[in-house]
Amino acid sequence: MEIIANVTEGVIKKAAKTLKDGHLVAFPTETVYGLGADATNETAIARIYSVKGRPADHPLIVHISSINKINEWAVDIPEYALKLTRDFWPGPMTLILKRSELAKNFITGGQDNVGLRVPNQPVALALLSEFESLGGHGVAAPSANRFGAVSPTTSLAVSEEIGNYLDANDLILNGGRCNIGVESTIIDCTSSIPTILRPGAITLEMVEKSIGIKINTKGLDSHIKASGLLASHYSPKARVRLNMPAKTGEGFIALANIPTPVGAHRLASPANVEEFAKLLYEALRDGDRLNLDEIKVILPDGSGLVEAINDRLVKSSLRAELY
Ligand code: TXA
Ligand code: MG
Repeated sequence: MEIIANVTEGVIKKAAKTLKDGHLVAFPTETVYGLGADATNETAIARIYSVKGRPADHPLIVHISSINKINEWAVDIPEYALKLTRDFWPGPMTLILKRSELAKNFITGGQDNVGLRVPNQPVALALLSEFESLGGHGVAAPSANRFGAVSPTTSLAVSEEIGNYLDANDLILNGGRCNIGVESTIIDCTSSIPTILRPGAITLEMVEKSIGIKINTKGLDSHIKASGLLASHYSPKARVRLNMPAKTGEGFIALANIPTPVGAHRLASPANVEEFAKLLYEALRDGDRLNLDEIKVILPDGSGLVEAINDRLVKSSLRAELY
């Protein structure tokens, strides 16, 4: 496995060919790093599952370079979904749509629908376009972490998570720290009214404004399967506990205006909610790098992106309760 720090045009060509040849390429998106493989290559997709240690019936998101590719992967696309793609792609939004013939069971976890996203990150978009120019149709990419762990938002975090599981031909592309820092909003568009399955930077308010109707946020009640919807997920090794003061030797993450409790390790002091999302996962990892047993996080108040932050943190704190 090779980590490429400086992604030039030549590197993009090499990475696209690597994908076309059936190997894996981890790459940056604006949300988190993805572990990419050719979405039509069953053997390559099987490797994603083994590298992640992910159960085989959990579907993968197919990443495409532009809206124009949507009809290759999806059929019977509702008008409201097309409106969402026009308003928010490229961007941190994944749509679940009725699948075309191209989306096989090994991508969809055996479901009749497929998750699609056009990411908004220059390395990702260049890689997807180059891959498509070699005859590719789309790149399946889950977050580049082991199953149940925290998503990586830096290339170092990718190599720490899965470096040991990658092969000699696989690549990790560096694109710096991800701008948004939490995974895309997932919207189920297989019914007459959309449902938000996973909150993200495209918020409920933005979706409702775009399509002009009130929508559902059923999440856990949905018939749709999504591993991010499991009660426990996004978990570092340290135990995460919410809205409690940190004791001596524990990690502490809170907005900058909240002082650090005496003796605690301050892992992040974001100035606002956007920075909170951007720094959060790397701060949790820093807690693990310091071998802390426990990290206390003070959840920010509010709506919008705060819902995505709270969703991930509540899930990462639940793992502790299983022990
Ligand atoms: O921001 C993101 O979405 C990142 C970047 C790399 O694009 N990707 C990501 O993928 O978070 P992953 O696999 O870690 O999380 C995607 C979630 C999973 O819970 C998966 O089960 C769900 O989306 N999902 C994917 N395709 C689906 C489908 N057809 N139906 C229902 N859920 C789906
Ligand atoms: Mg994930």
